[in-house]
Amino acid sequence: MNLRPLLTPALVLLAAAAASGADILKIRTDKPGAEIQPTMYGLFFEDINYAADGGLYAEMVKNRSFEFPQNLMGWESFGKVSVRDDDGPFDRNPHYVRLLPSGHPHKSTGLTNEGFFGVAYRKGEEYRFSVWARTIGDKASRIRVELTDPASMGETQVTASARLTIGSTDWQRYTLTLTPSETVRKGQLRIFLDSDAGCDLEHVSLFPADTWMGHENGLRKDLAQKLADIRPGVFRFPGGCIVEGTDLATRYQWKNSVGPVENRPLNENRWHYTFNHRHFPDYYQSYGLGFYEYFLLAEEIGAAPLPVISVGLACQYQNKGMDAHVPLDSLQPYIDDALDLIEFANGPADSGWGKLRAEMGHPEPFGLRFLAIGNEQWGPEYPERLAPFIEAIRSKYPDIRIVGSSGPKASGEQFDYLWPEMKRLGADLVDEHYYAPETFFLTQADRYDSYDRKGPKVFAGEYACHGKGKKYNHFNAALMEAAFMTGLERNADVVSMATYAPLFAHTEGWQWRPDMIWFDNLSSVPTASYYVQQLYSTNKGSRVLPLTLDGKPVTGTAGQEGLYASAVTDDSTGGYIVKAVNTTSSPRDLILSFEGLKKDHRLTSGRVITLSSADPDADNTLDNPSRIVPVATSIDLASPTSEVSVTLPANTFAVYIFN
Ligand code: AHR
Repeated sequence: MNLRPLLTPALVLLAAAAASGADILKIRTDKPGAEIQPTMYGLFFEDINYAADGGLYAEMVKNRSFEFPQNLMGWESFGKVSVRDDDGPFDRNPHYVRLLPSGHPHKSTGLTNEGFFGVAYRKGEEYRFSVWARTIGDKASRIRVELTDPASMGETQVTASARLTIGSTDWQRYTLTLTPSETVRKGQLRIFLDSDAGCDLEHVSLFPADTWMGHENGLRKDLAQKLADIRPGVFRFPGGCIVEGTDLATRYQWKNSVGPVENRPLNENRWHYTFNHRHFPDYYQSYGLGFYEYFLLAEEIGAAPLPVISVGLACQYQNKGMDAHVPLDSLQPYIDDALDLIEFANGPADSGWGKLRAEMGHPEPFGLRFLAIGNEQWGPEYPERLAPFIEAIRSKYPDIRIVGSSGPKASGEQFDYLWPEMKRLGADLVDEHYYAPETFFLTQADRYDSYDRKGPKVFAGEYACHGKGKKYNHFNAALMEAAFMTGLERNADVVSMATYAPLFAHTEGWQWRPDMIWFDNLSSVPTASYYVQQLYSTNKGSRVLPLTLDGKPVTGTAGQEGLYASAVTDDSTGGYIVKAVNTTSSPRDLILSFEGLKKDHRLTSGRVITLSSADPDADNTLDNPSRIVPVATSIDLASPTSEVSVTLPANTFAVYIFN
């Protein structure tokens, strides 16, 4: 019997596809499921790899307040320079320098700053120098400020120079603009005493005039723009381990990171000594990029802020068997820090901490909705400390959603202990971390299929594929992440947030890799992992659609041979988005079959964005920044249809978009 006349054109196509060996991905458009949370794909920022000072924070002077334990670290002095701490303008940063005449017309007094891996600047661009200063005695003093190129083979090392008169014995802030005549990567900032009257200098600062959104205490524009281009839904800050500190004294204390920038006390950055084989003794936190700047950036890039604060446990890795933590009966100041942070973010402009926010320039609340308590904590010492935080926050701020930790690993004894504890305590979300090899990412796309739908939501707060034997950025790791993320998307009813980690790394100052964005002092480059995050975030859609191959979710399991896929509606266009990842080295013929389309509704246009690389071990670099970039092409739909035939190339992440 010839059945052909009984089959619809769609069924004919499917029958042909089956015969040809194409995989038929069935997408049930009439069964929209969970909403994709606006927070689903986001960012996690930690000051590791010189991500803040020397990175996103655009300050170019290292040790600008002379507060490093070696007060002149980062500086070279010449002539008569002394460090003093008796009478400076900032009580929490008491040190300053005194410059006195050299005593001989042919000798000079001054200081040179080496910057962060050099002071880098571009020809013709403006740089804003500022300094707090006072003259000593009755006579006005003068300094000469220069940008120099120490490696120059020209007649002069000086590429920009300007003078500043200091006319008061009271501390005052002075500014000038430098416009260099050359682009220099490894330059210096040099200050000469340029008169026979001495002066005192404090908080010596140099910023590009052209910062992100033009803020004076600003951020590097290229780096902030890359964050904005992800269109993140959530923004976790400031760590990570630096929340905990190597000891409690070095934990991140948000109250030290707000108010006038000159008076924010320096903190040790634990990443300066965490790895002896990558040791950076000049790595400190100026807190110039503090909690105000963070909330502002989150607002400007449209992400919900998710601060993390200390639960009173110092880094548990670094304090095993030591009595390093806050005793339970002394937790109140830590709990107050949490409550006060919420007030700083959301309180009225006349409230205690809200007033400071308003004075800093933001009278309107920042709209904080989430707060994480603790980073990678474990053991009974965590829940017993978390409990009083939750109680205090719930009673004062019942709308704040609290994020708890499931420990440093995404399985094992601590993980199994902590998840039920987080449920018992009523955490709204639980933070999971996985830096894991390919096998993890290839086998965990169904990880969340079996999670309790009634418990806390999942925040995949730190994750990255650390290729086995390949702990560096490369395309294959990004491909594994893309494959795994289909499982986050399919489980959007339980996974509310996910943030890759770490975010930034300076090519000369990294401690940890892979990372999402690499940079040096003048340029930056998104990695393949960045583009995976961006493709998910900018195509996150609205609601999950069931997508199956032979009746099963497509999670790369047996019979699916390395294929991963998920689908969502896009309610803004009425269209559909399918993400598919082929982790094998053979192309895959697919039929995307959209079932349950409304009567008379057919797909009329389509396009695909692919991310692939001929070399799985390669990634983008500063020298070759566009090696692996998303490529968009249109899909020719000859006539309105409900099935689309595509070939998914080998080792490729593809985002198909149909209307
Ligand atoms: O992202 C680097 C570190 O990894 C984080 O500080 C910590 O939370 C995790 O162990």
